[in-house]
Amino acid sequence: MRHVLVTGGAGFIGSNFVHYLLRTEQEVQVVNLDALTYAGSLENLKNLPDESRHIFIKGDITNRALVDQIFSEYKIDTVVHFAAESHVDRSILDPGVFVNTNVVGTFTLLEAARRAWLVDKLIPIDRVRFHHVSTDEVFGTLTREDPPFDEETAYAPRSPYAASKASSDHFVRAYGTTYGLPVSISNCSNNYGPRQFPEKLIPLMILNATTGKPLPVYGDGMQIRDWLYVDDHCEGIWKVVTEGRAGETYCIGGDNQPPNIEIVKLICDILDELQPDSLYTPHQQLITHVQDRPGHDRRYDIDIEKIHKELGWQPRWSLQKGMLDTIRWYLNNPDWVKAILEQSDYGAWVKKNYEGRKG
Ligand code: NAD
Ligand code: TYD
Repeated sequence: MRHVLVTGGAGFIGSNFVHYLLRTEQEVQVVNLDALTYAGSLENLKNLPDESRHIFIKGDITNRALVDQIFSEYKIDTVVHFAAESHVDRSILDPGVFVNTNVVGTFTLLEAARRAWLVDKLIPIDRVRFHHVSTDEVFGTLTREDPPFDEETAYAPRSPYAASKASSDHFVRAYGTTYGLPVSISNCSNNYGPRQFPEKLIPLMILNATTGKPLPVYGDGMQIRDWLYVDDHCEGIWKVVTEGRAGETYCIGGDNQPPNIEIVKLICDILDELQPDSLYTPHQQLITHVQDRPGHDRRYDIDIEKIHKELGWQPRWSLQKGMLDTIRWYLNNPDWVKAILEQSDYGAWVKKNYEGRKG
């Protein structure tokens, strides 16, 4: 039995990962440590494939005593670290919490792992792994002509979110080289899929469109992201944890890069087909260009050759299929949407982020 500490497992990707792991692996026990911030919810952990192999602990990754206790009590041999503040717009308005959770939190987990595995030697060193889930945003922005990011690309973060993730990546690598902690990192592009918090582009547009609200496209909408369906990311992470080499970084991406405006139009077109009688069809009438994000990265693109060649991973979902599945999920889960909006004070966020943006 493998004892996996998943941090941030009540958030978007973390909860999808917990579902994925319990569904695909029999010999795994999951200890899920999550502070249940605005972005985390127990709604995301309903109907797990096997409740008996899942232990949920509400707590903060910066709480060293708690993290130490979890390592020894549950004989943790694997960490998959998702917990983070994850939204660029929030990092612009309130950067301090990003430093605390993303940098200090990651440092706290690394220290606890070092103590448990290298000092107290609770688990043989050849059976442990600390995997850090990171983002392609640490690499900064690309021009139209630049080659895609890969594992050798120099770090050049531009938002407080990206800077905090870059810093945490550096700490993880430093613990690998300095102390010999068996670490790995994955830098992934933008995810989408079920259970994503509605502040992010795709769920925001789906939920605004179905309720007839404006679809706020930042600037000219020609910024480019690389989109990956969340289950593909979960599979890639587990491959890196179980088959990837310690000390290595792997880039993960969806191999498709439409501009934001095309993503928004795709959502509108799918909704037109699924809801032809909606008051808001054609949904593209709701598109509104609003003031751009400060320091907005123009283009991301990521090269997945290393993980493909070494570990045989590649995305399974096309953007069309992933988007259709995602939109259907949001339409079929109104109770989830209602609960998440109510418990997160979402209205206050919308006011704070969008009220000052002139159309
Ligand atoms: P999310 O915001 O949906 O979830 C974050 C989770 O972490 C929440 O459940 C929250 O309660 C928890 N958390 C926050 N602070 C905590 C703390 N101090 N202690 C314990 N738990 C805490 O984020 P997400 O989109 O699921 O992203 C997960 C990870 O993947 C992050 O590290 C992010 O940087 C990375 N990532 C995200 C994307 C993306 O497109 N969403 C892409 C690449 C990488
Ligand atoms: P987001 O989902 O916040 O992810 P990230 O900033 O981490 O890439 O945003 C994705 C893209 O969509 C990004 O270029 C910003 C843009 N965007 C909008 O145009 N309007 C919005 O209301 C939001 C939230 C994002």
